[in-house]
Amino acid sequence: MRLKLFFPVLLGLVLTIGMAAVAFSQDAEQKDPPSEVDFKRPEGAAATKFVGVKFNHELHMAEDCMLCHHTWDGASAVKSCSAKGCHDDMKNRELANSYFRAFHDKHSKRSCVGCHTEMNDEAKKKGEEQMKISPCSNNMCHAKS
Ligand code: HEC
Ligand code: HEC
Repeated sequence: MRLKLFFPVLLGLVLTIGMAAVAFSQDAEQKDPPSEVDFKRPEGAAATKFVGVKFNHELHMAEDCMLCHHTWDGASAVKSCSAKGCHDDMKNRELANSYFRAFHDKHSKRSCVGCHTEMNDEAKKKGEEQMKISPCSNNMCHAKS
């Protein structure tokens, strides 16, 4: 008799805790940056012969999230760079909303190439070692592992 009651209650408890844990981890997932991001080339992106880029958040924690995620409100889910209405032009490299420019704009600190170029300019002035950002093939970004 007692066992008959115990099991449904136990099952209910396990389910409740399980669901809460899932909800919590989904929430945390949206806010905590994944340590390493493998860029998935969005559909329609021009083919390239270069190796895909991996992005490591941990190496970039000196920067504010909002520098790169520049339309993020700090609370909702982080959108991908290629989200609709963002850098969603997959063809024209000259346009500011092109997928290419988001990462390769030499004159924007929030682009990968822009910030690393600025850092290299500083390093050069100080006679320090520069990051290997060119040529594009097998450089620091499109790195063969
Ligand atoms: C130097 C630039 C940069 C900084 C700083 C940065 N991120 Fe990111 N983050 C990226 C890039 C690039 C992606 C990959 C976007 C894509 O796939 O289009 C990304 C992806 C993400 C994703 C995954 C989004 C998805 O769709 O899977 C989350 C979550 C995220 N960042 C959170 C953060 C948080 C929180 C911070 C600050 C603590 C932060 N990021 C700082 C560049 C940055
Ligand atoms: C605002 C500046 C800034 C932006 C934007 C930025 N980075 Fe970096 N990046 C850094 C700094 C600083 C380091 C050096 C971290 C270290 O070695 O301590 C770095 C290092 C790296 C490294 C070298 C890691 C290693 O193995 O030493 C790679 C690869 C890299 N970044 C990729 C990217 C990509 C891809 C993007 C764009 C999605 C990007 N970065 C955007 C500042 C930036």
